[in-house]
Amino acid sequence: MRSVSIQQHSKPFNLECSDIAPDKSISHRCAMFSLLSNETSIIKNFLLGEDTLSSLSIAEQLGAEVLREGSNVTINPPKKLTEPDNILDCGNAGTGMRLYAGLLAGIEGSFILTGDKYLRSRPMNRVAIPLRDIGAKIDGRENGNLAPLAIRGGELNSFRYNSPIDSAQVKSALILAGLQADGVSYYKENLLSRDHTERMLRGMGARVKTNKEGWIEIEPLKTPLKPLNITVPADPSSGFFFAVATAITPNSKTVIKNVTLNPTRIEAYKILEKMGANISFVEKENIYEPIGNIEIVYNGKLSAVTVEKNIAWLIDELPALSIAMAIAEGTSMVKNAKELRVKESDRIATVLEGLNACGIKTVEHEEGYEVIGGTLSSATINSYGDHRIAMSFAIAGISCGMQIVDTACIDTSFPNFFDILSKITTIK
Ligand code: S3P
Repeated sequence: MRSVSIQQHSKPFNLECSDIAPDKSISHRCAMFSLLSNETSIIKNFLLGEDTLSSLSIAEQLGAEVLREGSNVTINPPKKLTEPDNILDCGNAGTGMRLYAGLLAGIEGSFILTGDKYLRSRPMNRVAIPLRDIGAKIDGRENGNLAPLAIRGGELNSFRYNSPIDSAQVKSALILAGLQADGVSYYKENLLSRDHTERMLRGMGARVKTNKEGWIEIEPLKTPLKPLNITVPADPSSGFFFAVATAITPNSKTVIKNVTLNPTRIEAYKILEKMGANISFVEKENIYEPIGNIEIVYNGKLSAVTVEKNIAWLIDELPALSIAMAIAEGTSMVKNAKELRVKESDRIATVLEGLNACGIKTVEHEEGYEVIGGTLSSATINSYGDHRIAMSFAIAGISCGMQIVDTACIDTSFPNFFDILSKITTIK
């Protein structure tokens, strides 16, 4: 098992990051949505992480011709998606599996979606049940809740679905199914989850619009969509590790360049700002999404914060935010965050286990936790195969030194993470 030792480094740094990993959510969608066109999609700065490369391989197995030169990807979709002659492996990616489930539910043929041992233990009922309700045939272990999922695609009925979960993966799966249904469908969530799917599909010409009552109206596709021509912006969730590093290292500054400033993706920066860091956002362009730079400047000791709203906008950043909470003055609280339990790991358990190993006191709740700010000390942290746990504690290591066990998972979303981290500290 790969393990890495981070050396303590309390000297100020000034980082200009033009090489934060490309956005994972947008890259997955590029691989999949290109299949809804009949022309060539051009994608620059595609994330070459294991998760998104799995989605690209699946696109190939479904008949697309994929040409890749570094991170520039050209996707020639087939006229009609083909039934693959092998299983479709999503690796570690919940986004890959749940979105492909929605897409494939409406395509004639038989498909098996599988993934690594972590993905095979994550709940799929959240997409399987509503998809089955509209006529999809989906089966798997535990009545279709656990992958491998066997999907027999076919005709789908239009629907009206008010989702009990604020999840972009569920929403996107249902939108992809709705595009193939026999009439106009409606989808609603309580809090807007990340909306890359709606933005990108609209940009490709799909009629997916949100009405005044918050229902997303999805018209079935009558003709193939326009192809994508996109440069994937940097991933704010990946950039956030370096935002936390900056906020906890006196006199430091970081600029994250060309990152998506989609409001559903930058909430963690706003929380860090509330805790005391100086943060500014500069929008430069709008291509499917607002894109620009985020500047983070150290501004003294952080204060504790309570996080209970907009949890879907923070879900991927809470592990890194917890490192900031660990050294903040006072007790921080995270509430209404039971979704953390079904991520790449049970992130309430893995965050608290790691913080406790570093000498930080915490209180665990079923749907959240409390972090009593103190001083981090060096420890050995098991990532449990969760990239965001590995990277969060690597960042904590800047302040005290840290040994991280099982770091291979970082390649799922941020293959050059240690290259950037090595600009500010020594890694062995
Ligand atoms: C994602 C949605 C989020 C997020 C995941 C990526 C997406 O999951 O945690 O990393 O690309 O749609 P949920 O939709 O399950 O909250």
